[in-house]
Amino acid sequence: MGGKEKRKREAEEVAEDSEEEVVAEEEASTAPIDVEKSLAPADDGGVWFVLEKASLEAAKVGKNYQLLNCDDHANFLRKHKRDPAQYRPDITHQALLAILDSPMNKAGKLKGLYVHTEKNVLIQINPHIRIPRTFKRFCGLMVQLLQKLVIRATNGPDKLMKVVKQPVTRHLPLGARRIGMSYSAPKVVQLREYITASKETTPLVFVVGAMSHGKIEVDYIDDLVAVSQYPLSAMWAIARICNSLESQWNIV
Ligand SMILES: C[S@@+](CC[C@H](N)C(=O)[O-])C[C@H]1O[C@@H](n2cnc3c(N)ncnc32)[C@H](O)[C@@H]1O
Repeated sequence: MGGKEKRKREAEEVAEDSEEEVVAEEEASTAPIDVEKSLAPADDGGVWFVLEKASLEAAKVGKNYQLLNCDDHANFLRKHKRDPAQYRPDITHQALLAILDSPMNKAGKLKGLYVHTEKNVLIQINPHIRIPRTFKRFCGLMVQLLQKLVIRATNGPDKLMKVVKQPVTRHLPLGARRIGMSYSAPKVVQLREYITASKETTPLVFVVGAMSHGKIEVDYIDDLVAVSQYPLSAMWAIARICNSLESQWNIV
């Protein structure tokens, strides 16, 4: 098996106990966290996010591995017959900041967060992580994750990010309502009302695209909705979800 194939297989099938230990390069959370607990079905509702089609791909450019992006690697990508416009890890960075910085997360309502990459790698992100705020540092951290398959806190055994087994459905709570988000969905909803219609204790899973073009293509959602009559950035679509949930849960 070639090195590339081996890494892909490792990324897809990594077993929880076979992870290499690495250290997050910055801003690691200090609170002790048991990520496994967040995988248990929630009995008090809560929300899960899945970011689909995320453009997170590391490649050796010159001497070092780098996270491919349209600004820094346009020539490299064209040379390898790839479309630079498809390489937008900044969308995932912004989406993660929007979710993790939300009052809803601060209130402890974010129960699970997953990123599914265009290259079919599934990443579990600890809701307590403090993701790097600058894009450059975010890229550095994601390259580290894609190579080592896990990022641990600097000050303890907590896993802040790790590559996990697929499919994502095995990590989602039983009885959840799984809602896909797309501008091209036939149904445009007022999200606040839509959420109010579900039972308070029903866990909600929102599936948002982290790509620049196209739409999410997944078979595990119960519904596909548009939350605006306008095409939004992933970050704005997420802001709508967070605001609606905060209002529903009286989080000020
Ligand atoms: C930059 S958009 C992707 C562009 C793609 N043409 C589209 O509109 O689906 C990123 C993601 O934001 C979400 N999104 C954008 N506009 C939306 C809308 N009006 N309603 C619901 N979700 C939306 C979708 O999940 C989408 O995949």
